[in-house]
Amino acid sequence: MSAKIQPPQLPKGTRDFYPEAERVQQYIFDTWRKVAEMFAYEAYEGPMFEHLDLFTGKSGDEIVSQLYNFTDKGGRDIALRPEMTPTLARLVIQKGRELRKPFKWYSMPRLFRYEKAQKGRLREFFQLNMDIIGTDSIYAEADLLAAIATMLRLLGLKDENFVIGVSSRKLLATYLEEIGVENPALVYPVLDKRLKIGPEAFAKALADANVSCEQVAKLDALMSCKTLDEVDALVAEDAAKNALNEMKELFNTLNAAGYADCVALDLSVVRGLAYYTGIVFEVFDRGKSMRAIAGGGRYDSLTEKLGGDRMPGVGFGMGDVVLADLLREYNLLPEMKQSVDFYIASFTNDMQKIFTVAEQFRKFATGEKYFAVSHPLSSMKMGKQMGEANGQGAKIVIYVDGDKASEGSFEFKDLRDGSMHIGSFEEIVNAL
Ligand code: HAM
Repeated sequence: MSAKIQPPQLPKGTRDFYPEAERVQQYIFDTWRKVAEMFAYEAYEGPMFEHLDLFTGKSGDEIVSQLYNFTDKGGRDIALRPEMTPTLARLVIQKGRELRKPFKWYSMPRLFRYEKAQKGRLREFFQLNMDIIGTDSIYAEADLLAAIATMLRLLGLKDENFVIGVSSRKLLATYLEEIGVENPALVYPVLDKRLKIGPEAFAKALADANVSCEQVAKLDALMSCKTLDEVDALVAEDAAKNALNEMKELFNTLNAAGYADCVALDLSVVRGLAYYTGIVFEVFDRGKSMRAIAGGGRYDSLTEKLGGDRMPGVGFGMGDVVLADLLREYNLLPEMKQSVDFYIASFTNDMQKIFTVAEQFRKFATGEKYFAVSHPLSSMKMGKQMGEANGQGAKIVIYVDGDKASEGSFEFKDLRDGSMHIGSFEEIVNAL
């Protein structure tokens, strides 16, 4: 006898979506899409893999160390996309002047990062991306932050449940210069981990990046500021003042539009990715018990770094994993059962009649409106057919060969209240 074959295993850090889980997933996708379209963003897509060098050197060391990459049969170095922004930049460079600017695009890519799989972190996940390309205006940031707040509110979260923490790389960069930090690019990833790694590890990592104790204290002072006035008192340079004014206008605009309670200054937000140049932001649940729900910022030199012309951009990514965990925690994931409109049943197991009637109901589709029509796939007793209809969440069961119905009409049962009726196609459709 041959040895028993080991059944296939789910790869670490990935998920299966059985229909029950997939319904939840689709609910999240539908909400993402709805809000992106409410804010007039257009959908786009790209390939799931790219040339490796699109990511190396541009995204930041952390993401590069997490790449799934391989050499293909043609000897090309390829990576599964760990994020969407470099692909977007490539698309923008390719079409260049042809694109009417500014434009607002969204995408919901499947992404891959070789991470230590843990709560909120997987190796394969989905991420809503919304980006605005072709404007330096701070109102682009305002548009994106408003979209995030609208989305989370639509999903049922209250303003007291989440906060969009806003900071500015520009402010940080000028301040780093002001206090004499030599290599800011080395310092950002460390600052990004400030709250995650604890004070000792933080101080050590900064020391490794050549930041003196005095400079650490100064950085701490800035990152702990709670109001723009406090920052104002701390910074001297004009460039820092400019960054500050920009933030003031952003907050004033969002306050005026009704987002005051879910947007806050948070200079501890730095973002790990290398390409951010201006406003950066992260969205957290208030307890900060989880990873960021979303993160993003302005990246004005990414296209240039990739060999194109300068093209300002700003956007964010929102992952499905943390979001679903959060919604589950607040009991905000609606229970979604399978549901079909009509179940076509037959007392005599007349399959040809079943298929014919099912087709007629499907033909009733007009424009956006269509019906989900189900029926047995083999001969079975009526009791079993009713069991299937109930199990699939059918609203109405249509009997194709009930003896009480005259030509052109059918007996049907409304499973929502158990009532029996006789009616034509139109009457049945109207009963739905
Ligand atoms: P990111 O901060 O790397 O930014 O990711 C954004 C969000 O994606 C995170 O806040 C988190 O919700 C989710 N995420 C990231 N990694 C994982 C993971 N391993 N498992 C589950 N969820 C994850 C970016 O990716 C930028 N490209 C966003 C952006 C768009 N910036 C400008 N435009």
